[in-house]
Formats: sequence, structure tokens, C-alpha cells
Amino acid sequence: MTQVEHKEPIQVRANLDFGFESDDIPRYWLAGDPFRSRMVDAVQATFPDGERYFIASVNAFRKDITDPALLEEVKDFSQQEGHHGRVHTDYNDRLQRQGVNVRAFTKHTQKLTNYRLKHYSASYNVALTAALEHFTAMLAELFFARKQVMAGADERVRAMLAWHAIEEMEHKAVAFDVMQKIAKVGYFKRCLAMTHATLSFMLFVMIAPWFMLKMDGLSFGGRLKAYGKGMAWMFGPRNGIFLRMVGMIAHYYRPGFHPTHLPSVHNYQAWLDGYGEEQDPMAASRAMHAAAI
Ligand SMILES: [Fe+2]
Ligand SMILES: [Fe+2]
Repeated sequence: MTQVEHKEPIQVRANLDFGFESDDIPRYWLAGDPFRSRMVDAVQATFPDGERYFIASVNAFRKDITDPALLEEVKDFSQQEGHHGRVHTDYNDRLQRQGVNVRAFTKHTQKLTNYRLKHYSASYNVALTAALEHFTAMLAELFFARKQVMAGADERVRAMLAWHAIEEMEHKAVAFDVMQKIAKVGYFKRCLAMTHATLSFMLFVMIAPWFMLKMDGLSFGGRLKAYGKGMAWMFGPRNGIFLRMVGMIAHYYRPGFHPTHLPSVHNYQAWLDGYGEEQDPMAASRAMHAAAI
């Protein structure tokens, strides 16, 4: 049986405005829930440096790419990631103004990514990037396919995350193709990098919100309570994000896996239609949320 390919065109969208210069976005912007809000805030705090690492890892092989289509995709991928980095930097500045010591998080990511670039081989770095890109490609499906996950979110933050998730889905195969076709990374290294990425990502997701909530002034007991409430959203057997994520990660371990084997999120077209001629990411996010199940 031939495998169906799910591939969307990569479109670079620049100068989008999410209104992050205004300081009226609530601290707990996701349904008033401290854990959910700060979990997303902590993960996104790593994005500007993380995306610089992705761009560097992929571009380390640029000179060896002869296929013009892949070269074009690498260029579009780098531009999309560059724009993501800039918007998440604006968001981080807003968190800093809110009293969160966001630099503690960005410093940690900078140290980690600099270490990787200096000490790991170029092929392992692109394998780690391809694995982490599988995580970002899952965002649209995990956060936007169903209404419940983003219910009660601040519109501006939701719109930023929706735009980012859409573009991650569009370029989901670029790092993977460079890893496989150019860096010639085989099955074992690909799986090793995914295991490494999964463990470090999960560790960060569980620990980082704890520190951010502490910066918010929550007591030890307050943080425990926030975590307790967040656990159902994360690990719930029916609607939790985690189990669905594990299923999507498992695909990556299949020999012969390619990112285009996984379908695009069902409300991708709704986002595009909402974005429309006006290129309005707020309208796009509303349309996507309305079309979610
Ligand atoms: Fe990105
Ligand atoms: Fe990406």
C-alpha cells in the first residue's frame, strides 16, 4: 500500500501584531489556571534560543544541499523560525515586565544550546533538531484540534500560539529531510535523539513551571495545589494532552517514518481562511478555534 503524503506549502508570514506591548494580558491567561498558563509560558520562553539552535543545526548542512526544492524549504524554514523567535522575544519581554525573571529561563536555554553546538556532532544536532521539530509539529494537533484545550485562553496569546503551531506544521519535514538525505542519519541515531529530546523536554515541562510559579509568589502549598489541578489537564486518560502526545511520539520510532505520514490538523484550512487577504492572525485564530471539535 502506498503511503499518503500530508504536506502543506511553507508560507513565510512576517510583521504580525499580537498586541504584546499592552500589559493587560492576565498573568494566568489560560482559563485563569496557574499551572497551564505558566507551563506554556515556560516552554515558550525557550523558543527564541531554541529556534536559533534549530536554524544553526539545519544550516550547518546547507552547503551540501544540491536539491533546489530542499534548499528553498531550508530558506523558508529559517525565515519562519526567525519570525517565531522575534515574536516570542516580545512575549518574553512582556513576562519580564510582569515580574517574571524570564532571563533565568533564556540563560539556561542559551547555555544548553551553545553546549550542544560546541560539543555534539553536526549530525547529532540536526537529529536532535528533527526530533524537537516533531514536538513543535504536534502543537497544532495537541492544542488546537479540540476546543477544550484552549478554552478560556486570552485571544492574543492563543493567536500567537496558533500561528506558530500552523507554521511548525507547514515546515515539519524540513529538518527531518536534511537529517536523513544530507546528514545521512540512520535509524539508531534518529531514535536516540528522539529519546534524548523527549526526556529533556518532559523534565523541563515538569520542573520549569514550578520556578515560574515561585517567581509569581505562590507558596510551596500553592504550587502543589496548582500542579495537582494541572495534572488532569496534562495526564487525564480521556482528554489529557500527554497520552495523545505519547501516541504521536511513538510514530517517530517506526522504521520508515516520515513527518508527512501524519495528517495536517483538521482545522488548518479554517486558520488559512480566517487569515485571508487581510493577513489577520487574530481572525485566523478565532476561525480555527471555532472549527475545533
Ligand atoms: Fe518555530
Ligand atoms: Fe520549527
